[in-house]
Parts: sequence; structure tokens; C-alpha cells
Amino acid sequence: MRNLFSLLLAVGGAAAQRTIQWTFVRNGTSGVVPVELITISPTLMLMYDRADGNPLRLPNGERAWAALWDLETNTPTPLNTLTDTFCAGGAFLSNGTLVSVAGQPLEDPTQPPADGRLGIRLFGPCTSATGANCTVFEDPAHIHLAVTRWYPTGLRIPDGSLMIIGGSNTNTFYNTGPTAEDSIEFFPSRPGEEGTVRPSQFLLDAQPVNLFPRSFVLPSGHVFVIANNITMIYDIATNTETRLPDIPNGVRVANPFDGSAQLLPLSPPLFEPTVLVCGGSATDDTRPVTNITTLDPATNQCSRITLTPAGIARGWEVEHMPEARILMETVILPTGDVLLINGALTGYSGYPSVVGSNATGSNSDNPALRGMLYRTEFPAGQRITQAGLPTSDIPRMYHSSASLTAKGNVMVAGSNPHPAVVEPPTTLSFPTEFRVEFLNPDFITNHAARPVIHSAPSQLHFNQKASLRVTVPQSLLAGPMKVSLMDLGYATHSQHSNSRLVFLEHTLLGNTLQITTPPNNNIYPPGPAWLFLVADGVYSEGVQVMVGDGGDPPRADQGIKIHLTSL
Ligand SMILES: *[C@@H]1O[C@H](CO)[C@@H](O)[C@H](O)[C@H]1NC(C)=O
Ligand SMILES: *[C@@H]1O[C@H](CO)[C@@H](O)[C@H](O)[C@H]1NC(C)=O
Ligand SMILES: *[C@@H]1O[C@H](CO)[C@@H](O)[C@H](O)[C@H]1NC(C)=O
Ligand SMILES: *[C@@H]1O[C@H](CO)[C@@H](O)[C@H](O)[C@H]1NC(C)=O
Ligand SMILES: *[C@@H]1O[C@H](CO)[C@@H](O)[C@H](O)[C@H]1NC(C)=O
Ligand SMILES: *[C@@H]1O[C@H](CO)[C@@H](O)[C@H](O)[C@H]1NC(C)=O
Repeated sequence: MRNLFSLLLAVGGAAAQRTIQWTFVRNGTSGVVPVELITISPTLMLMYDRADGNPLRLPNGERAWAALWDLETNTPTPLNTLTDTFCAGGAFLSNGTLVSVAGQPLEDPTQPPADGRLGIRLFGPCTSATGANCTVFEDPAHIHLAVTRWYPTGLRIPDGSLMIIGGSNTNTFYNTGPTAEDSIEFFPSRPGEEGTVRPSQFLLDAQPVNLFPRSFVLPSGHVFVIANNITMIYDIATNTETRLPDIPNGVRVANPFDGSAQLLPLSPPLFEPTVLVCGGSATDDTRPVTNITTLDPATNQCSRITLTPAGIARGWEVEHMPEARILMETVILPTGDVLLINGALTGYSGYPSVVGSNATGSNSDNPALRGMLYRTEFPAGQRITQAGLPTSDIPRMYHSSASLTAKGNVMVAGSNPHPAVVEPPTTLSFPTEFRVEFLNPDFITNHAARPVIHSAPSQLHFNQKASLRVTVPQSLLAGPMKVSLMDLGYATHSQHSNSRLVFLEHTLLGNTLQITTPPNNNIYPPGPAWLFLVADGVYSEGVQVMVGDGGDPPRADQGIKIHLTSL
């Protein structure tokens, strides 16, 4: 009886949530493939690719492999880098600089870019609205990784520096053997660890499906990592790995079986972390590459686990998407819901290596043309819907990406399952895709009244009250209100690294919104963030703030210790 009552309550509450109607708007061509897509500022997106014949040219006439996308003009401006940015990972640091690490082995000794595998590329902060004078800084002789890496994860940790997790030191489908770089290092290096790495038994155990390990900073300051079908909590201070329950039913989610994972929104006062994992493949990873095909079904499984003792005892809660997915992006929206977009229904990541079907030149087939929404607060079994989501006619397969912009829509771009640019006419399936789309929520499409954040402090210290000047349309005042502090992440290869949403306590008095900032640097690792105000499911444009003291990493603990129920 009690269960039925709480279920009814939950359904009632969920049903009150507004269904956003989304529309695709196509505008512009990206000039490079946004293999990596990062929201930089209110007006700019950064795109990193490889040097493989892109139409966009550097001022010297060379084809470009990196660019800034201007959301005002819907045009790309080329960016130069010394080293090859292809398949790098990265994050913003505590001082607002975006770091991209590792990349592609040397492809052409006669022309740039140089070998990217030791690469550390520093960008910004970029304060120019058009990106003028915003350049990538590199000093490969002095600033580089300890070991060569391709496909590692970059994660901003509570001291505001970057943890670099795993990878391979050469191009590979399955990551195994002596070329696997199953280790962890930091940028900047931790004292006494300059030029060294920390070997990881967990990553070794996760071979051969352990590239781009899905990783999240927990409110304890520890790091939760998923690779293949196994999971662990990593204690940075003591260098200890503690295994947690496997992803159920043999589902594997790291590259090349790319499923996507997200840390669901953290809410005060306990900030209990729940991790969501959707898609990937349940293929037996002992099957050789010659025995798997582009038509092998991906999984339609989504599972989530709450990382408290009780949550771990309950284990993973399994749900199913209406369609299977591999290679998809997950984008957290300011509402706390998660958009699942791009990818395919069958096959794997990577370049032509698996046994073909009719899809030539691609390791995956059956593009997923319609996104899904994961409604975080709905009861299990009702969370995933395609209601309100349109169907695109552009396949977004391997090397496509999606990211929330400061305007509140989602930039959707890229796709190139080939080792070079392939443009029509071609006999190959899924040519390189330069067309950019935006997935607009109805309140942007209809120019409807939205909450507006008129002003916010540019810096938010931990555990403080701060005041924002806002307006909330009368029509939205009756609905629930949320203040979302977000890192919009570093999107690449189905892992929206560093993506994070912390709901803030708030009170609205007239046009003054008083917020309480996160209690400490474990809840939100210090660095850049976006504030969105959500009223009755309609959200404002984002306002960029610096969380913490804005200094160079590593930063000492900031804020206060809180009572934690989670690991
Ligand atoms: C594309 O974007 C440009 C720049 O914002 C704008 O002027 C133009 O109207 C847009 N085109 C379409 C079809 O929306
Ligand atoms: C870019 O740098 C040039 C040369 O230093 C300077 O003249 C110009 O004002 C700068 N532009 C912006 C937008 O900062
Ligand atoms: C995870 O994969 C391993 C090895 O491939 C397998 O033995 C194990 O049963 C899997 N775990 C689950 C929960 O399916
Ligand atoms: C993979 O190997 C199994 C077992 O030998 C075989 O039955 C199956 O046909 C093979 N599949 C492909 C696509 O080669
Ligand atoms: C390949 O294409 C043919 C003709 O379009 C179609 O009949 C067949 O089902 C396709 N096979 C696969 C494996 O998709
Ligand atoms: C941020 O910190 C990194 C690491 O110490 C440093 O390389 C970079 O120059 C800093 N950025 C700025 C803008 O000072």
C-alpha cells in the first residue's frame, strides 16, 4: 500500500514535468570534424579534429584540424596547434585554461601537425567574443605528458588539476598487449611524480575495452571509473583502487564498445552521487575483430547505481531504451534530464576493421536518427522517452559530437567513420559530415519568455551566499525552480568528460536570487562553470562564472567538510 502510494506520488510529480518539443535547425558547416567539442564561452565552441584534408584552411593555406565555432555567425575560424589533436581528452583547469592532452601518432613527417601523443595544449581563458587573439599554447620540449597516449580520459580533480587516465600508445581497435598505457598521470605533475605514471591494475583488468575510461569525481573527492564492464573507486591520495559492482548483463561501455555514462545531478544537502550508463555493447570481448560485424546489435540497456552503501547493496538498476545505442553522446540539460543523441544501433567504434555489411568503410551501421530523453526524476521504467524529439536526416556516427551551448540549445555536429575526409560522390557509406545542426528547445524556437540571469558574480567561492539579479516570467513562477551550476564537459567518443550538474539551494525575493555555492571543491572541482536558472522546465541562457579562487592548480582544499553518506 505504501509502495503504491509513493509510486502514485512520484508519477504525479513526474507528470507535472513539462515535455519540451525540440526542433533541429541546420546552419553552417564546421570546416573540420568536431571529434572533440567544447563549450568555451557565451559565443564560442572549440572543435578539435585530425589533419586529414578538411575544407577549412589555416592562414598559411594548410588544411586546418582545429577551429573555433562562432555561435553568432555560425562560422568556423581555424586554430593552429603544433601537435595532432586527434582523439585527445581534456578539461578546464582551476585557472580557467582548457587543457587538451595526448592525441594521434605522427601521420606525415613532411608537414604539420607533429605527433600528438605527448601533447599538452593550453587554450584560454578566451575573453574575446569572436575568439580574436585566442590561441593554443604549446611548448612540446618542456610541457608534455610522461608517456605517449592516444584515447585517454582527462578529468579535472578536486585540486583543480588534470588526471589523465589510460589510453594506448598506438592506434588500435582492442587495447591490449605492450602498447596499452594502463596508467594514470597528472597535469601539473604531483610532487615527486614528475615524469612518472601510476600503473593501474583496474585498467589492465578492463582490457581490451578500456579506452576513454568513463570517470567522475565523487563528493568524497574520490574518482569513480568505468571501463569495459567493470567499475572502481580510485583514491587519489593513497593510490588505491576499490572494485565496485560490474555493469550488469555483460554490457561493456568503454571504447571501442562506446556506451555513454554520466554522473546524474548532485543535490544538497547530501549530494549523493548516482551514475547512469546507457548503451554500449554486450558482445563477448574475446571475439576477435575478424569475428564481429557492423550489424552486431548494440545494447539497449541503461543502468544506474547510487554510490552509497545502501545503493551499492541494491546494485545497478536496469532499464531499457526503446532502441539500442552505440557511439551516442549524453548531454545533461539544466533541468537535470539527460539527452541521448547521435550514434548507431549496430556495430562498434573505430575505423574499418570489423567484418562489413552494406556499410562500407564504417565499423557501425543503422544510424540512430532520433534522440531520447532520460528523465532523471521519473520512476524507473518511465524515464526514457522519445516524446518531443525530432528525427534528423543526418547520420551522426563515429566522431560526431554534441554539446549544450550557453544559449541553451544543443550543438550537434560531425561524423566521420573514415580515416580521411570522404565527400560525396562516394561509394562509401556515411561520408564525412560537416553540416552543423542545433537542437532547439521549444522556448528558443518560439522566442517564448524565459528566465533571465541579468547579473551574477564573476567568481563564486565555496560555501557562500551570493546574489544574482534575475527575472522570471510570471507564467513560470508556479512551477518548480532550480539553479543549476554546470560544467558542460569535453565531448568526445561518447564520453562527455567532466560534465557535471550541481543543484544549488536558492531563494527568490523579487528580482534577487540568493544562492548557496557548493560547500567544497569535491562537490564542484574548482574551475569554470555555467549558471542556469530553470523555472517550470524552461531555462535561462547560461552565465559563465569561476568557481573557487581561480588560481593555478593544484589548489588546496577550499570550503567546508560536509557530512557524507556516499563513498
Ligand atoms: C544562420 O545563422 C546566421 C548567423 O547567425 C543567421 O544570420 C542566419 O539567418 C541563419 N540561417 C538560418 C537558415 O537560420
Ligand atoms: C589582438 O592583438 C592585437 C595585437 O596585439 C591587438 O592590436 C588587438 O587589439 C587584439 N584584439 C583583441 C580583440 O583583443
Ligand atoms: C564482466 O565481464 C567478465 C569478463 O568478460 C565476465 O566474466 C563477467 O561475468 C562480466 N560481469 C557481468 C556482471 O556480466
Ligand atoms: C564468429 O565465430 C563463431 C564461432 O566460431 C561463428 O559461429 C560465427 O559465425 C562467427 N561470426 C563471424 C561474423 O565471423
Ligand atoms: C544490403 O543491401 C541490400 C540491397 O539494398 C539489402 O537487400 C540487404 O538486406 C542489405 N544487407 C544488409 C546486411 O544490410
Ligand atoms: C593555468 O595553469 C596551468 C598549469 O599550471 C598553466 O600552464 C597555465 O599557464 C595557467 N593558465 C593561466 C591563464 O595562467
